Amino acid sequence: MYDIKISKSETTKFESVNWDNLGFGKYFSDHVYISEYKDGKWNDGEIIPYGPIPTEPAMCTLHYGQTIFEGLKAFRAVDGGINVFRPEKNANRLNTSGKLVCIPPFDVNHFLEGLTKLIQIDNKWVPSQRGHSLYIRPLVYGDGNFLGVHSSPTFKLIIMTSPVASYYPEGLAPVKILVAKDFVRAVRGGLGSAKTAANYAASLLAGDTAKKAGYSQVLWLDAVNRHFVDEVGAMNIMFVINDELVTPPLDSGTILRGVTRESVLELARDFGIKVSERPITIDEVFEANKKGELKEVFGTGTAAVISPVGQLHYNDETIIINNMEIGPVAQKMYDTITGMQYGEIKDEKGWIYKIKI
Ligand code: COI
Repeated sequence: MYDIKISKSETTKFESVNWDNLGFGKYFSDHVYISEYKDGKWNDGEIIPYGPIPTEPAMCTLHYGQTIFEGLKAFRAVDGGINVFRPEKNANRLNTSGKLVCIPPFDVNHFLEGLTKLIQIDNKWVPSQRGHSLYIRPLVYGDGNFLGVHSSPTFKLIIMTSPVASYYPEGLAPVKILVAKDFVRAVRGGLGSAKTAANYAASLLAGDTAKKAGYSQVLWLDAVNRHFVDEVGAMNIMFVINDELVTPPLDSGTILRGVTRESVLELARDFGIKVSERPITIDEVFEANKKGELKEVFGTGTAAVISPVGQLHYNDETIIINNMEIGPVAQKMYDTITGMQYGEIKDEKGWIYKIKI
């Protein structure tokens, strides 16, 4: 048990939200949980109103990017309760990411307690419409003020929440993805497996270029050979080739260890689908398409959930996958995972963390 103080906001922004057009990450609920690291330890933390945080120009993270974040979701279950999907996975990954950028670990139970209290206080912000959820964004950053390049002696962990609809405006309709040829995201030995700002900064120009060309995002190839498929950036990527579900392995250290990725692979194995975590080249994907063996492509992620890919463009060639329609494997994964999240399907996996309200 942690002694988490609570200072409630005297006002609420709840009425100003357009609940019929939530989009993604546009609205922020009334409170945040915040804990500070000083003299080698995290304090118990408190819940305070969402608002500006005073920042000096010399704050090291603005210069050197010593920051990590997470993404998870709370759902309004059909029985009216609140379900969070596998939050301990995100707490653990926060610490794995932190290791790579010298951020001290945060105790998993402490994380869960801060998160629980925050959602209890802002529970009305968990939307009840199917397909909507309360996106939870934990963020940690060094907040020391200095100009030398070294790790910060002090840090802040903040958990904020945002009511959201689907990440892509397309929803469950397939997205178009551009395979990145001129840009790379991460190299072996680098930060690719960490949910840290540097990876997202590295994706901005490529993402912008893809948007201008009419694509939702880019698919990253490995930075050395530019052959092997890595990930999309906001999601991991999966291919159904004949009856095999193929996804790149994590051992390169260039791919994010997605919680939805792991859940989909486990469910696929349970359903008797052949699963291969193995290196796959972009040429193999296009070749499989030529032979009629590429049945489905879809992304997995907390924000994206399951996002079918209907079109891939690489080297002047465009392929259309499954007639620009969601395929049966993606649909089954979407139905099963969201069914568990909204409490429509029994949680036999122990993946649902219930918040008492
Ligand atoms: C997530 O899926 O939670 C992400 O963090 C992806 C993106 C919004 C950065």
